[in-house]
Amino acid sequence: MFDFLCEIKAQRVVTDDYMLIQLQAGELADQARPGQFVHIRIPGLEQSCLRRPFSIFDAKAGVLSILYKAVGRGTEMMRSLQLGRQLQVIGPLGNGFPLEFDGIPLLVAGGYGVAPLHFLASRLQRSGVMLVGGRTSGDILAVTEFEALGWRVAIATEDGSAGDKGFVTVPLVRELARFKAAGQGVVMFACGPDGMLRAVAELAHKNKVKAWLSLDKHMVCGVGACLACVQKLRREDGSAWVGRVCKDGPIFEAASIIW
Ligand SMILES: Cc1cc2nc3c(=O)[nH]c(=O)nc-3n(C[C@H](O)[C@H](O)[C@H](O)COP(=O)(O)OP(=O)(O)OC[C@H]3O[C@@H](n4cnc5c(N)ncnc54)[C@H](O)[C@@H]3O)c2cc1C
Ligand code: FES
Repeated sequence: MFDFLCEIKAQRVVTDDYMLIQLQAGELADQARPGQFVHIRIPGLEQSCLRRPFSIFDAKAGVLSILYKAVGRGTEMMRSLQLGRQLQVIGPLGNGFPLEFDGIPLLVAGGYGVAPLHFLASRLQRSGVMLVGGRTSGDILAVTEFEALGWRVAIATEDGSAGDKGFVTVPLVRELARFKAAGQGVVMFACGPDGMLRAVAELAHKNKVKAWLSLDKHMVCGVGACLACVQKLRREDGSAWVGRVCKDGPIFEAASIIW
């Protein structure tokens, strides 16, 4: 884990409220694994909770890319930061997705949940299917990036402005049935709002498919010390324990989560 001052190399609007920021992060970027996150100190937030957690969208040649949505004070301030400004960044944090598994990868994202899954797709040996969901077409992100990596992409929007009308579970149910009919095994990887993750976990259980979920909890320290981000979990023997999403996660197997 590093605690670096990272210079902003680029910052651009992706769509609506979503931004992509690129930081010169040296070893921090080079050692990052898909599913890990960084904790960024946002200038101007010194009086409140100091840092904000963000998944890693991409990391190569010492440059860290973060795809974020402006939702509040911190992310609004981040949006207005100029090139050349230095940000204090701790990372890479958390456990990351497993990169070795049997089956075709089936990725499921809601909104900025595409971020860790894009990094994952860029590091996997084999491509698979990427399902992206959002409220409207403005929430559908990184489709061209996934296609450029050789992934087949399906979209769902709640207002029907792009792809299937409804939740991302609409194409997910279809894909699971298609793979089952073809006798092909799949492994799911998902990141998005809690409701979506819960639906993915239920479908994984119903279809006897393994699913790895990236949980999103409010964080304070980001390194396992404050217990702000606890999640009730189940061991293989059925006993319960309480894990810290920042340190023991953010990636957990769906079957281990007690919702
Ligand atoms: C492991 C992890 C990875 C994340 N990755 C990304 C990412 O790649 N891109 C991205 O845009 N965001 C990501 N987030 C969410 C991001 O950290 C929050 O959106 C951010 O902290 C909000 O800060 P703010 O000061 O702008 O909002 P605040 O003013 O603190 O809050 C504004 C609104 O955002 C909500 N909010 C605050 N924190 C979170 C949170 N952790 N999750 C969901 N809603 C929150 C609040 O409930 C409130 O409604 C991630 C969160 C975690 C825990
Ligand atoms: S945020 Fe402090 S323990 Fe997770």
